[in-house]
Amino acid sequence: MITIEHIDSIDKEFEDRISQTRDSVQIENLRVEFLGKKGKVTLLLRELGAIPSGERAEFGKRINDLKVRVESQILELSGKLKQATGAKKSDADWTLPGIKPVVGRSHPLTQTIRKILSIFTQMGFEAVDGREIETEFYNFTALNIPLNHPSRDAFDTFYTRHGNLLRSQTSTVQIRMMEKHKPPLKIVAPGKVYRPDTVDASHSFMFHQIEGLVVDDRTTFSDLKGTLSFFLRELFGSGTKVRFRPHFFPFTEPSVEVDMSCFMCQGKGCHVCSRTGWIEVLGAGSVHPHVLEAVGINPKKYQGFAFGLGVERMTMLRYGIHDIRLFFENDIRFLHQF
Ligand code: PHE
Repeated sequence: MITIEHIDSIDKEFEDRISQTRDSVQIENLRVEFLGKKGKVTLLLRELGAIPSGERAEFGKRINDLKVRVESQILELSGKLKQATGAKKSDADWTLPGIKPVVGRSHPLTQTIRKILSIFTQMGFEAVDGREIETEFYNFTALNIPLNHPSRDAFDTFYTRHGNLLRSQTSTVQIRMMEKHKPPLKIVAPGKVYRPDTVDASHSFMFHQIEGLVVDDRTTFSDLKGTLSFFLRELFGSGTKVRFRPHFFPFTEPSVEVDMSCFMCQGKGCHVCSRTGWIEVLGAGSVHPHVLEAVGINPKKYQGFAFGLGVERMTMLRYGIHDIRLFFENDIRFLHQF
């Protein structure tokens, strides 16, 4: 018949054995030895029936406590051993260098567009979208471009078979915005434009422009000068000088081309500015009354200014890039520098 001492000795034996158990084979053996069909704890339980009924409850409790403890300790240790051997048995060489994932980034043109938009939105302009497939009305007619103007020629504009066209300038957005919204208006519109130019280091059949338009009842030509001077100084540095040369655009009157002093030579003359000290960067002017009339805005009451700039050109100037084709070749070696 079993005795309390007997139970205690099995208990002690288990404690000794588990403290020496080092691997999963040993622990499995231990489990069979104590909890298996003929295990020491299992046999104790089986002999419980032989205990006189007066003592059975006490014995039962002791044996059961022991069983619960043996089970939980075996479970705990086998979990720990599994973790440890998992790491040890792995074939991985943790000292090998990892495989670096290629981290993407914004295209340099996108970066320039965002930078320019942030300068204008800071001045209260709203950034808007346009469309790339347009009609002659939005690309030419409403912009006061006469029917016989050379830019309407198929050599200078892509036409679709159905008489639409790929916009050749973002000035189309001026018309779309003024049609939809009453003044006051203050917008910038970035986007792609298309011209059938032969591709070379400075020409591409597709490039990007950012258009700007302000229309209200008080904006003057001096606002144009102040706005564009501030913009260029924000983008190219506070020492940048800006000059406005008379020019012609059908949709602005008066019109100007805007130059900035060369950031490379500070106006002394170098290869970047073709030894002139100045770099042409923008077209601009006061909105032509015909344009306002074309969208039903009264030119006696409202006025404003518009401007357009080339994103590729700005980016080439910012980073000293000499070939526009680099932007569109998707060569990671070029792109990852920005
Ligand atoms: N659309 C003109 C161009 O593509 C630029 C421009 C925009 C000029 C707005 C004046 C006003 O050259």
